[in-house]
Amino acid sequence: MHTLNVELGSRGYPILIDAGLLGHAQSFARLAARDALIVSNTTVAPLYMAALRDSLGSRRVVEVILPDGEAHKTLANMARVIDVLVANRFARDCAVIALGGGVVGDLAGFAASCYQRGVAFVQVPTTLLAQVDSAVGGKTGVNHVGGKNLLGAFHQPALVVCDTSTLATLPSRELRAGLAEVIKYGLICDAALLGWLEEHLGQLLGKAPEALGHVILRSCQIKAEIVGRDEREQGERALLNLGHTFGHAVESATSYKEWLHGEAVGAGLSMAATMSRECGLISDEDAERVRRLIELAGLPTQVPTVTPDQMLEHMRIDKKVLGGRLRLVLLRRLGEAFVTADYPPEALARTLAAHCGEGAP
Ligand code: NAD
Ligand code: GLY
Repeated sequence: MHTLNVELGSRGYPILIDAGLLGHAQSFARLAARDALIVSNTTVAPLYMAALRDSLGSRRVVEVILPDGEAHKTLANMARVIDVLVANRFARDCAVIALGGGVVGDLAGFAASCYQRGVAFVQVPTTLLAQVDSAVGGKTGVNHVGGKNLLGAFHQPALVVCDTSTLATLPSRELRAGLAEVIKYGLICDAALLGWLEEHLGQLLGKAPEALGHVILRSCQIKAEIVGRDEREQGERALLNLGHTFGHAVESATSYKEWLHGEAVGAGLSMAATMSRECGLISDEDAERVRRLIELAGLPTQVPTVTPDQMLEHMRIDKKVLGGRLRLVLLRRLGEAFVTADYPPEALARTLAAHCGEGAP
């Protein structure tokens, strides 16, 4: 088993990574709470709820099973979780445990951050995306009709239990979506990881346990280090949003229905690479290398059903708009990223023209 620590003083916590952690009481030994509310969904609960309950021993356990999907990451469902905590008279020393992907994790974490002004929270991520990204770092929240993740809070988990064997049941489309966030880490700070991915993508797509274990560990290391230095995204953490301003616009322009988050991030990473080339920062060859890697991972790089104008409209409500200027994360080279609001508008126009299409038929 690998144990990484997110170094945040009194809010620091371990990330446990191994195959088969669920079902072992030892995985949750450091959890002091006697009362636990498990939040999961209709897909994941039948697969892993029993194993999780087994590992919680004699604790009082209550479950909330939400409908599956991004469309259910709502304030109403968050309120449902709070209602169950209240109805069962859970006290401040309880724990909320998220069992599932990023949707369940973000929503359950937000409920934990609000209930009695904050109770303990545990992440048990079961998608690749959640294991490499969303379960670590304490960003929690829900969507609003006006935009994705518009409501939320920073609330660090007390523990992350990352059982890599849960990926055995993950559909391959979801696996590919998680790879987008792994490619992101390579692009922002680890050129060696990019080379490794180019060589091992076949094994990753085939769910080879060693290859998956490697990218999960490396991704969590990178995220833990960045979050440890910049918990509240005052600086460096913003680099983790590479490709996300474009990606969030794709998701919201298509009403969160056609694209998985990771797929939109994949296209967004390709746009960020094109934009970096348009700004004269990286070469044609490097931009092409990024596009090829994203395609090798089975992710889209083009967005034919969204027009450039629609993209711009949706990018403007992004949380990274500051003082009316849209900030973007760009690449100085493959393995180094920076945030800037200082770029030629024509470069953005050319980037969107190169990746977007005529709109929905
Ligand atoms: P998801 O939670 O919707 O899970 C994807 C699908 O896989 C769902 O249908 C789910 O039920 C199913 N599933 C989960 N685990 C499974 C398993 N082991 N076997 C079979 N099916 C399984 O999506 P996601 O990609 O995990 O997360 C996306 C969400 O995460 C978005 O809402 C995004 O905004 C959020 N996110 C948050 C952060 C953060 O830092 N908090 C970072 C990135 C993304
Ligand atoms: N996924 C971006 C972040 O956690 O900051």
